[in-house]
Amino acid sequence: MKLLFEKEVKGSNRFRFPEPEVSADAAPEMIPAEHLRTADLGIPELSEVEAVRHFTALSKRAFGVDDGPYPLGSCTMKYTPKICEAAALLPGFADIHPYQSPWTVQGALKLLYELQRDLAQLTGMDAFTLQPAAGAHGELCGMMIVRAYHKSTGADAQRNVVLVPDSAHGTNPATAAAVGYQVREVKSGPDGLVDLEDLKSKLGGDVAGLMLTNPNTVGLFEKNIEEISRLVHEAGGLLYYDGANLNAIVGVARPGDMGFDVCHVNLHKTFATPHGGGGPGAGGVGVKDFLAPFLPKPVIEWNEEEDVYTLNRDLPESIGKIKTFYGNFGVCVKAYAYIRLNGFAGLRAVAQHAVLNANYLKKRLSARYEIPFDVICKHEFVATNARQAKNGVRTLDIAKRLIDFGYHPPTIYFPLIVNEAMMFEPTETESKERLDEIAAAMNTIADEAETDPGKVKGAPYTTVIGRVDETRAARHPVLKYVSE
Ligand SMILES: Cc1ncc(COP(=O)(O)O)c(C=O)c1O
Repeated sequence: MKLLFEKEVKGSNRFRFPEPEVSADAAPEMIPAEHLRTADLGIPELSEVEAVRHFTALSKRAFGVDDGPYPLGSCTMKYTPKICEAAALLPGFADIHPYQSPWTVQGALKLLYELQRDLAQLTGMDAFTLQPAAGAHGELCGMMIVRAYHKSTGADAQRNVVLVPDSAHGTNPATAAAVGYQVREVKSGPDGLVDLEDLKSKLGGDVAGLMLTNPNTVGLFEKNIEEISRLVHEAGGLLYYDGANLNAIVGVARPGDMGFDVCHVNLHKTFATPHGGGGPGAGGVGVKDFLAPFLPKPVIEWNEEEDVYTLNRDLPESIGKIKTFYGNFGVCVKAYAYIRLNGFAGLRAVAQHAVLNANYLKKRLSARYEIPFDVICKHEFVATNARQAKNGVRTLDIAKRLIDFGYHPPTIYFPLIVNEAMMFEPTETESKERLDEIAAAMNTIADEAETDPGKVKGAPYTTVIGRVDETRAARHPVLKYVSE
């Protein structure tokens, strides 16, 4: 029996797999008789057309950025230019395999190397890894690096606490706990920003670091970030940047310059890539020089003289592998294409438009909805149902009613520091006309909440499924195959 890929790989074909020597028809003869199936599996069969109709019907029930505005706060559901998809589908990227020798995938390694370099420049970090598969996974990687650093200085045993503001995304405390830290909450002040006095009272010799999102989850820039950085560093802690909101400042300000030591970037948010519904993401992690030895391995290196890219596994202080191979490569290709498409100046314009759009929508809603922090915001803002509550209309009702107007609802009931929060993040890819339409729909709902609150409370009316008990569905999922 010949091995499938034993042909010599040379010449102009060296980047292509040779054709398999063994055809699929011949395969059963090669499998020992005792391993061959004797009875049909009994799985249901469907004609192609029925399968296509089934999935087409399902896709019509779904809603994505390609259908309409999706102002889901903190998720940056921006439009992904189709050319980024096309780049990821190029056979030279889509058909390669991570087990190929680095010599046969030099182009892919070059792309990853250059993406790391671009992200390091955009965030003000010195080194980057693209291994983590999502923002939360990047947090895990970054906090493991923080822990490895404290171990290397002998301080780990006494530094067992991580500070997390009460406005943080739930993944922050979860990550700190997963890495083995106790979580100590830092309060926000009435302005929605970190309360400096509370921070000072929580800092001490037991603190390993502070995890901070900037702009934070109410869409406000932590203007005291330099002071926060000084306080944390003076106490011997490290500063972790949750980069989920980088879209608000990319090309304008850099976490590295604000004093952060380690950061993650949700490539699927700031640098496009369709996500949601559990779709693939990427959560690259950047670090300052002194943390570079702890990055996951292998690290992609470039030999400038020979113009060759290699994988360095000889990193004794590395936290090890955080994901198989080198990360979600397809997402990295899309992010790379997106950065090249815009250029650094274009990315700055992206951030500026994201901020402009959020402030415009906030202004348009502020006549009818309560805005708890009604100051210039960054890429997102929080509104509430406070004015509609007197008629018994809750935030959930308003969000459900918005679906009937053809828009995805905002993020609701997050951040937790705002009662009945509705967090809008329109992103830079919505036009003024679309923002006006969302505002008009929201204002109509505000009218309805006064004249016919029952209508709002009964929404949505246009979807196949109305309201589901999401908590129950998550806790007691009914997973079964229904045959006719
Ligand atoms: C502030 C913040 N941090 C972390 C995350 C986690 O990112 P991911 O969903 O990519 O794991 C999110 C996701 O929405 C977020 O908004």
